[in-house]
Amino acid sequence: MKWLSVLALTAPAHAYLRFGCATLSVQRLDPLVEPGKIPSAHVHQIVGGNAFNATMDPSVDIGNKATCTTCSFSEDFSNYWTAVMYFRARNGTFKRVSQYPNSLLGNLKGGMTIYYIQHDFSTNGNQKVTAFKPGFRMTVGSPQNKQANNPGITYTCLQNVNTRFPETREFPKQPCPAGIMANIHFPACWDGKNLDSPNHQDHMYNTGTGGFVAAGACPASHPVRVPQLAFEVLWNTTEFNDKSLWPEDGSQPFVWSFGDDVGHGSHGDYVFGWKGDALQRAMDSTALLSSGLKTQSVAQANQCNVKSEVQEDVDTWLTQLPGQGMAM
Ligand SMILES: *[C@@H]1O[C@H](CO)[C@@H](O)[C@H](O)[C@H]1NC(C)=O
Ligand SMILES: *[C@@H]1O[C@H](CO)[C@@H](O)[C@H](O)[C@H]1NC(C)=O
Ligand SMILES: *[C@@H]1O[C@H](CO)[C@@H](O)[C@H](O)[C@H]1NC(C)=O
Repeated sequence: MKWLSVLALTAPAHAYLRFGCATLSVQRLDPLVEPGKIPSAHVHQIVGGNAFNATMDPSVDIGNKATCTTCSFSEDFSNYWTAVMYFRARNGTFKRVSQYPNSLLGNLKGGMTIYYIQHDFSTNGNQKVTAFKPGFRMTVGSPQNKQANNPGITYTCLQNVNTRFPETREFPKQPCPAGIMANIHFPACWDGKNLDSPNHQDHMYNTGTGGFVAAGACPASHPVRVPQLAFEVLWNTTEFNDKSLWPEDGSQPFVWSFGDDVGHGSHGDYVFGWKGDALQRAMDSTALLSSGLKTQSVAQANQCNVKSEVQEDVDTWLTQLPGQGMAM
């Protein structure tokens, strides 16, 4: 699969959307899984439009409500979020690991890279891809998960910013010179009816095998092919890569904000918020990178943010992970 990474980085590919979104906010909110709860159980990093808040009523079209976005496509007011990575020092305290942008996408502040794939990296495929609708939301992965059972949830130990393989199901066990990339791929088959489901996953079906490989045909229960959404989050572990800082027993010093130091609980959340039919137009176009989507400058994207609704420190050396009760 090595060729995929080479292709992704060098070919003038047309078959997908790939763009950066700067950090919008880092705080303990989870409008999808714990709507209205201030604070929610664990810290998230959020990118996208500024209609993000603790409740996010599904009847509100955030594509109309938001007034700015941290994404380089200026018509994308969607919100995308994941847990946050912390480093646990020998003395048991925690420090948040910072994020950095994909080098191809300019000097965005933190954030992540977002993909909407139609088929794979080298072709648009030949099937209709139906854009998500206002009110649509979904999650992939789960903080409760303790098994290596989700092909969409992987990690890459970055030797440099362009490393893409191999992928592992667990946190890398050795220091990674350019940090750790968390890869999060969503299912691409929708039931065509429900904008959400009680567990935020049952309205979707995964036929993918991980990576940016074409997903299999959608089943009758979930017949509508939607874009294959994926996040790449680059966690800059550089300042913690000195092994003399790691636990003496050699165990993993990196931990998700919900206390998982293995990595199987990695998860991603999505609330659709493209303005009007912009995403559908992009999916219908055959040359996506010149699809007529509006863009904005890095400076404009970096300017958009939301005020934290939770008054707590998530950034200095912390004696416990916010919301996780006991120190580990
Ligand atoms: C949160 O956003 C929704 C719409 O997205 C809005 O109806 C609600 O008033 C907002 N709540 C707060 C506390 O700002
Ligand atoms: C714990 O260790 C970290 C990293 O070595 C250090 O920066 C921090 O000051 C220490 N905190 C305490 C309370 O000793
Ligand atoms: C990663 O962190 C190191 C140490 O804090 C810093 O010097 C470096 O500039 C960061 N790299 C990126 C790409 O932000």
